[in-house]
Amino acid sequence: MSRAIPAAEPIETPRLTLRPAAAADIGRMVAEISDPAVARMLARVPWPYRRRDAEAFLASVAATTGRDLPLAIVLDGRLIGGIGLSGIRGEREFGYWLGRDHWGKGYATEAGRAFLAHVFNTFGAGPVNSGVFVDNPASMRVQAKLGFEKVGVSMRQCLARGRPVEHIDTILTRERFESLNP
Ligand SMILES: CC(C)(COP(=O)(O)OP(=O)(O)OC[C@H]1O[C@@H](n2cnc3c(N)ncnc32)[C@H](O)[C@@H]1OP(=O)(O)O)[C@@H](O)C(=O)NCCC(=O)NCCS
Repeated sequence: MSRAIPAAEPIETPRLTLRPAAAADIGRMVAEISDPAVARMLARVPWPYRRRDAEAFLASVAATTGRDLPLAIVLDGRLIGGIGLSGIRGEREFGYWLGRDHWGKGYATEAGRAFLAHVFNTFGAGPVNSGVFVDNPASMRVQAKLGFEKVGVSMRQCLARGRPVEHIDTILTRERFESLNP
């Protein structure tokens, strides 16, 4: 079970708010993550994604403290995506998604910059791991803009596709993040 710690205050960006997801967000979570174009790019999203999956996710966030930082990406009061870090200290992994109607507007990069600044400032300077499936150039571009660098290739299980998929493994150091995102 994941163990989550919410940000003390919502993280505000020029256009977005990053804050813990709530029960009122469940309908939007299910609608957006059910889109195969979203789910197939994520490793651990159950498939098909149902209301009970979103409820179980929120219950695990609410029941636990201290290890992960999962936040909703909110635009004009509505959830449009998610962003998070599993493992705040030690080995930590960054992930994110947006509903399809919200792609191509710079939101992932904007949310990622604010989120990672918060992570480095609040939870220490250690590197952050991430990566993308090889058929996800948009996400690779987001990571390049944030400063992530390729460190290898692995096979990673994708629940939505039901098989392992080639995955580009990446890493971000605080020094590189701050040099590219002053
Ligand atoms: C990946 C994802 C988060 C990107 O969100 P976004 O808000 O559209 O990203 P941004 O607008 O901040 O940046 C996208 C960049 O990719 C580029 N891009 C988009 N499609 C591309 C493609 N097919 N090939 C190469 N670059 C592409 C854009 O031009 C932009 O780069 P630019 O700013 O230099 O022009 C979004 O598409 C998504 O949620 N996809 C499904 C889930 C997912 O993939 N999550 C990440 C898992 S690793």
